[in-house]
Amino acid sequence: MPHMCIPTPVKDIFSFTISMSLLCCIYKLLLSLINMFGLSMAQTCRKSYSNLFDAHRLLYLKKSGFAFPHDVSRHVMTFHKKRFVIPGHNGSAMRRLPDVLIIGAKKCGTRALLEFLRVHPSVRAAGPEVHFFDRFYHRGLSWYRSQLPPRLEGQVTVEKTPAYLVAPGVPQRVAKHLPDVRLLLVVRDPVSRALSDYAQSLSKHGGTHKKSFEDLAFVNVTTGLVNSDWGPISGGLYVRHLQRWLDYFPRTSFHIIDGEQLVHDPATELAQIYFQEFLGLRRIISDRHFYFNATKGFPCLVKRERTGRPHCLGSSKGRPHHELNEATLQTLKDFYRPFNFKFYRMVGQKFHW
Ligand code: A3P
Repeated sequence: MPHMCIPTPVKDIFSFTISMSLLCCIYKLLLSLINMFGLSMAQTCRKSYSNLFDAHRLLYLKKSGFAFPHDVSRHVMTFHKKRFVIPGHNGSAMRRLPDVLIIGAKKCGTRALLEFLRVHPSVRAAGPEVHFFDRFYHRGLSWYRSQLPPRLEGQVTVEKTPAYLVAPGVPQRVAKHLPDVRLLLVVRDPVSRALSDYAQSLSKHGGTHKKSFEDLAFVNVTTGLVNSDWGPISGGLYVRHLQRWLDYFPRTSFHIIDGEQLVHDPATELAQIYFQEFLGLRRIISDRHFYFNATKGFPCLVKRERTGRPHCLGSSKGRPHHELNEATLQTLKDFYRPFNFKFYRMVGQKFHW
């Protein structure tokens, strides 16, 4: 039988092809192993972190065409066609003291601000007002921490207690424990704020009050002497309250939000908070997240952060106000004007009150 002679180059090509196919098989095998492992790991993590990091919320944002924010993508990994989102390598979500405090002002839109801010996947917020620095300071920092949601590295924790703006001793305490905290202050026309505050206290008294707004707002209605000690009036003296804070924090620690703008154009107002270096978060919330609810008379969320359903603030927000006659309105506006101007100068921002 003639001996079949295979030339060396052909032999080389042949063995090269075999080795390449083998390598491909090993590679594919490894890939499927990694995928299987990744899937089960993702499932486990998804379960354990479902309360901490809402994968669906991120995916919703992604599907809605957002550029995936760096600040989020740095801390998550996606597996299997982005069906699962898990925390990054060090992955441990922890309760931490706040990075951001919404310190007030009461009745200026603080709840709306919090609800809108927390749509951002990098924002974790305590739902109820914690009142640590004014009422529960004696419970200690670990109690405070326990009231806040766990967060991943790169996320920011926000707490809102509007009483912080006016409560005595709070700026000192905050400066002591949170020297680098960023402070958000929402303000609105102090006269509307006073009426809103009064409407709130009316509702707490079952819709009736022994005294009318005018009786409480003026020491003497005839002379027009305003009762600046009455909470609804003093709450709008922003310059006084902020001065106490500025004794402990530089102006750069604050971002002042126009409460009226927050109603008219929430997306733009929010952009200025995520913005710049203040929160250091990417702007991913836009007009598409809001719709105007004609019944409520306010902007509402197209999808709430947790439920993914449309969400308007509750009935305690957007109450009808007591109507003032023109003369009383003017007296109150005149009363606030000098304080307002000082406030504009103090913060370097102009409002139209
Ligand atoms: P009124 O109830 O007087 O209208 P806070 O949350 O600080 O208590 O502020 C309540 C105020 O938030 C409301 O005052 C309302 O004007 C204002 N607000 C701003 N945006 C709102 C929104 N999207 N829905 C309801 N209220 C909003």
